Amino acid sequence: MTDAPKDRVLIFDTTLRDGEQSPGATMTHAEKLEIAELLDDMGVDIIEAGFPVASEGDFRAVKEIAERSKQSVICGLARANPTDIDRCWEAVRHSERPRIHTFIGTSPLHRAIPNLDKEQMAERIEHTVTHARNLCDNVQWSPMDATRTEWDYLCRVVEIAIKAGATTINIPDTVGYTAPVESADLIRRLIATVPGADEVIFATHCHNDLGMATANSLAAVEGGARQIECTINGLGERAGNTALEEVVMALRTRGDIMPYDTGVDTKKIMHISRRVATVSGFPVQFNKAIVGKNAFAHESGIHQDGMLKNAETFEIMRPEDVGLSATSLVMGKHSGRAALRSKLSELGVEVGDNQLKDLFVRFKDLADRKKEVYDEDILALVTATTTDGMADRLELVNLAVQCGTGGPARAELEMEIDGTEVSATCEGDGPVDATFKAVRECYPNGAELQLYQVNAVTEGTDAQATVSVRLEEDGMIATGQSADTDTVVASARAYINALNRLLVRRDKAGPGSDAREISYKDVS
Ligand code: KIV
Ligand code: ZN
Repeated sequence: MTDAPKDRVLIFDTTLRDGEQSPGATMTHAEKLEIAELLDDMGVDIIEAGFPVASEGDFRAVKEIAERSKQSVICGLARANPTDIDRCWEAVRHSERPRIHTFIGTSPLHRAIPNLDKEQMAERIEHTVTHARNLCDNVQWSPMDATRTEWDYLCRVVEIAIKAGATTINIPDTVGYTAPVESADLIRRLIATVPGADEVIFATHCHNDLGMATANSLAAVEGGARQIECTINGLGERAGNTALEEVVMALRTRGDIMPYDTGVDTKKIMHISRRVATVSGFPVQFNKAIVGKNAFAHESGIHQDGMLKNAETFEIMRPEDVGLSATSLVMGKHSGRAALRSKLSELGVEVGDNQLKDLFVRFKDLADRKKEVYDEDILALVTATTTDGMADRLELVNLAVQCGTGGPARAELEMEIDGTEVSATCEGDGPVDATFKAVRECYPNGAELQLYQVNAVTEGTDAQATVSVRLEEDGMIATGQSADTDTVVASARAYINALNRLLVRRDKAGPGSDAREISYKDVS
């Protein structure tokens, strides 16, 4: 199989599968479709869109992404059993370029869980890869926990998978245990040792438990891997996965020592990074490579003088290369609807007429209150007005808060619930606590607050605050977001938004809707 020319490294994005497995990062159906479209547009070669057998919701998302995909290969995950593989095929077959990705844990610790000995597992691999290949020409196989699998056994099972028809062999460092020298060496030795290895693409899939995921992935490429598995912002379980933006920009920037190309349009990186941060509820740390708020901050800091003389003094990449505009002051209170639409499209955001209408009202309101409206402000508004395509059952009508040094804070809140107005006045330990209590009095519910997070969108005391609220009820998780120059108003809206999402999820999903309810260990 020659999927990639020698100097080309395929980018396999698993934000919607491995990334979405991070506790609390669950995305709605509409969000998954949006992220898949952005990945497809930015030139990602393969999108792992989900784990179809995990739930009706996952199945529907993978199927719809497969139907809509334009260029990317659409892949679904399946454990090593025919039921999973058939379900995966049912979902991905709607793509013009479908792929089945099937896996089994091959290390001693992982073999012990389904209680299979080496022979039984080898047989299972042969049967399941053959089964997948009979359905689909493009089959990826992964020995989970490969980096802790005995060398001889790893060679044996990789050979079996190749003979059974796998076209890509992925070597996961499932627990983030390997180091760069080892990572390169493992792939190099596998390619040199396993019969048929030159007929397939080797992939690397690294987790970041020791902070080495990106380095390990790039080392694997040095060893001969031609597919990197990664997620936007490094989203993923525990410490996450290799970050797409890091490997792509490292290959682009250090082409002198790593002469490999990717098909990714790097200018789209910043927008997708922000959207994933927003929809997953996992904000990007300020000093994160490439996409952190401070990654290019030297522009306005103490290095300014050197920068003005020659940008390369301190810059190894240009902010424009990752989609940051050179000047970010964009709009004011006199800007009209057409200007807003064109600004959004410049930021890579396409909105329908109804959303533009809502957005414009909120933009005008913001422009009246805030001197300068930046790109970041506009993106925050987009997030705040993005719904799941369903009318919200709960809405904030009015909020008045009293707080200060003189005693408990007090919130007077009015909400509309299914069209009926209700109100409550509550005291609390600070204005946010009082407000959340008032929401709960208006709309009694058992949802538990898992996360409450506030970030300033831009600088200055008139900056908008983006607030994320993550709620959990009966095993279902929903994250709500909002942005406002008033932090308490943004908090109330984010909380109500999370409740609306829980309601949508409860209505649509039914039992078994969370991919995490399905165990990786269950191979039968
Ligand atoms: O980390 C891992 O081993 C995985 C497999 C399912 C490929 O995500
Ligand atoms: Zn993984």
